Amino acid sequence: MEPLSRRDFFVSAVAVGGASAVTACLDRTEDTVPRGTESPEDLPRRQHAWDDHAATDSHGNVELPRHHVLLHLDLREDAGEDAPRDVEDSFRTLERAYDWSHEGLLFTVGYSHSYFDSVDAESPVPEPEPLADFESPDLDGYDAVVHLASDHPAAVVEAEEALKGGVDEANGVEVEDTLEDVFRFPERRTGFVGAGLPADHQDVDGVPDSEPVPEDSPLYMGFKSGFRENQAGEDKVTIDEGRFEGGTTQQISSMSIDLVQWYEQDTRWQREAKMFCPAHADEDRVEGVGDNLGTEPMTDDCKGEEAVREHAREYGTVGHSEKMTRVRDEDDDPLMIRRDFNSTDGGRAGLHFLAVQESIDDFVETREAMNAADIAGDTAVGARTNNGILQYLDVRSRANYVLPPREKRALPDWR
Ligand code: HEM
Repeated sequence: MEPLSRRDFFVSAVAVGGASAVTACLDRTEDTVPRGTESPEDLPRRQHAWDDHAATDSHGNVELPRHHVLLHLDLREDAGEDAPRDVEDSFRTLERAYDWSHEGLLFTVGYSHSYFDSVDAESPVPEPEPLADFESPDLDGYDAVVHLASDHPAAVVEAEEALKGGVDEANGVEVEDTLEDVFRFPERRTGFVGAGLPADHQDVDGVPDSEPVPEDSPLYMGFKSGFRENQAGEDKVTIDEGRFEGGTTQQISSMSIDLVQWYEQDTRWQREAKMFCPAHADEDRVEGVGDNLGTEPMTDDCKGEEAVREHAREYGTVGHSEKMTRVRDEDDDPLMIRRDFNSTDGGRAGLHFLAVQESIDDFVETREAMNAADIAGDTAVGARTNNGILQYLDVRSRANYVLPPREKRALPDWR
């Protein structure tokens, strides 16, 4: 793990961004970032092919890259017929500059309903909608989003600047093409995930002054997530036919997290019960941040509809994770891959919940299982209270995108 002062500096640099953040990051590190490839055919066809190129923990769970940028894009009205070439060449620059891995750069570009409207094509993804009675998120109307991720903070900020035309070189590779003539850059969001990073950024709204986030937690709420058995495989989330065959869909919801009650009034029992399941809490099954759970955090007594209903009756509380075990495909696998990360955007503790799945309907079904509106009300489980972790989250925005296969990633269906 990096020492605290370095971690603190780098997260702030990513949050601020810009060419000066690139220089500051490069000045503070001697790490070398592995160079990418001159042969695009070496790269996976799927933009979302990250799992085999990511780090893993000692159990084989995929660990996401530690630093993230979401660069939102709006098409310029005057983008011309060369636009697809400019876009493709800009992304090729990143692939030449950085190895396709957590040590280099993993990235995707996705297009929204509003993009397809503006090129007069049918959208493969619906417009975003609120997904619970108690939320009123902004519905993002951006045309596209680039997700940049790396263990090296310098790589994400430099890659972003390479796309925006703020640097001449990226990892020693000359930047000749940029997105500047094609897109405006209306908003960026940033974040981090991984042991030590949330604990270093507790001085934000939503986290009590007692600085309760455990030093080894990868996320603000104090537990590990993304266990292998609870994530879909990349084959499962890949669109298997039609115009975007080989691609996937991406949903991004940005939410704030309020941890005052979580850490100052709730007990360890309640935190374990609400995050995993009450039987876990009764039997103290979760040690620390949950590394002892291996690759499968749920046990048979916490899986499926009956178990969840019984816990609602017996304990008046249901766990976030156990509710999700109710959504499985014909092979008993989850429907989506979660690639979410924490954030200090706007000076608040937050989560950019990013997931990829074959269709946005898969996401909606999973989110409905999280709401558990069918269980709330009959028992002490409320719409948000004692209902997993819903009470601590406030969804501020939602967005849906399609991530085309790599060969179609540059302005699909261009006018
Ligand atoms: C701060 C917010 C959140 C935290 C800290 C969090 C944390 C966790 C943890 C610790 C687990 C259990 C273990 C595992 O990952 O396998 C889990 C499972 C899961 N979470 Fe979250 N989560 C959050 C928000 C969300 C949201 C907004 C969704 C949206 C639907 C979501 C979807 C899921 C799913 C689908 C699973 C379980 C997978 C399965 O068994 O099917 N989570 N989460």
